[in-house]
Amino acid sequence: MGAIDITAPAAANQRQAPLSMSRPLLVLEGIEKGFGGAQVLHGIDLTINDGEFLTVLGASGSGKTTVLRLIGGFTEPSAGRILFEGADIVSVPAYRRPVNTVFQDYALFPHLTVAGNVAYGLEARGTARDVLRPKVAEALERVALKGFDARYPSQLSGGQRQRVALARALVLEPRLILLDEPLGALDAALRRQMQVFLKQLQREIRTTFLLVTHDQEEAIVMSDRICVLDAGRIAQIGTPHELYYRPASEYIARFFGDNNLIEGRLGPSAAAVRFVETAAGRLMVSTKDQSDVAEAPTGTPVKIALRPEAIQVAPGSEFENHLSGTIRDVTFAGAISQIVIQPSGETARPLTIKLASRAAGLGLSRGQPISAGWRSADCRILLR
Ligand SMILES: Nc1ncnc2c1ncn2[C@@H]1O[C@H](COP(=O)(O)OP(=O)(O)O)[C@@H](O)[C@H]1O
Ligand SMILES: [Mg+2]
Repeated sequence: MGAIDITAPAAANQRQAPLSMSRPLLVLEGIEKGFGGAQVLHGIDLTINDGEFLTVLGASGSGKTTVLRLIGGFTEPSAGRILFEGADIVSVPAYRRPVNTVFQDYALFPHLTVAGNVAYGLEARGTARDVLRPKVAEALERVALKGFDARYPSQLSGGQRQRVALARALVLEPRLILLDEPLGALDAALRRQMQVFLKQLQREIRTTFLLVTHDQEEAIVMSDRICVLDAGRIAQIGTPHELYYRPASEYIARFFGDNNLIEGRLGPSAAAVRFVETAAGRLMVSTKDQSDVAEAPTGTPVKIALRPEAIQVAPGSEFENHLSGTIRDVTFAGAISQIVIQPSGETARPLTIKLASRAAGLGLSRGQPISAGWRSADCRILLR
């Protein structure tokens, strides 16, 4: 396989990962980690499959770097096991683990050339020069830095330095590459370009990548699966699609993109649906893939998560949920508009909803009648 052209990002989305990605490579089992009196990680259970691109996503201080340092062997868990292909590696020193870390600050040697930086790990292993040379050249070609061998880190841009750090990890052919906010220091445009580049590179070489970031969009664009960390606990693990459309909690529902969260109480069930009593009337939610909701008692306070793009204005009969009333207020915010509806029912209270501005056309204005609707399958009941 040849090098990847960093200037041609469109190809990345066309190529599908051919791997089944179901074989566990690394398993974290009941990991606890404290520093002094402070507990930082609480019972982390996480499986990283061979060949996948998994992202640990969380706010600053949620414990992401600590997870990477545990896997890299730079610190030990207070409790729990770290299994690599079934074998516990907790007592294996960092340099003997089949993983390499790419740090946010690149950690390049300033006095070594690009080639010297990339060769460093192989030299430390005692690799012969004639074996080393082509490996270094190949790694640099992979990260689109062919011809940069003789430059020093100070003569490179931030993005180029980041790619040297990546080449330095790749050249050692680790089974797992750990990346700690690798794009954090880059400006927005370069960041987006590097996201696609990294993803494309990962698909080509099929090495397992574990990336940590605080950037939701970055996680969605790059990952096969995302593990959301909230204050040292896993809030949800799933594909970007699952986290976006099937959030397990209000925290996740608020975390990715815009969402409507409608308060209510659980009402009666019917086949694969559950009714929810809200201030705006009774709404119907599909429970096809929500067994926890089907079993929850009537009267339980819940929230309904409903994406703005799922709301249709002047909906057809295939929409099980209808809301008719008068517009009390409109706030235009580009792609999304927020409107306050006074529903027509006598007891109904005003409801604020966000919807796609396009769905409403140009006709949203205060005092106007509106009829909105959405499918029961497009909403999700949140119990926590
Ligand atoms: N060596 C350490 N000693 C004491 N506290 C630490 C140490 N490393 C991390 N922490 C604490 O653990 C928490 C999680 O840190 P970290 O894993 O770096 O989070 P993140 O990478 O998500 O920002 C923070 O509150 C941090 O202050
Ligand atoms: Mg960190």
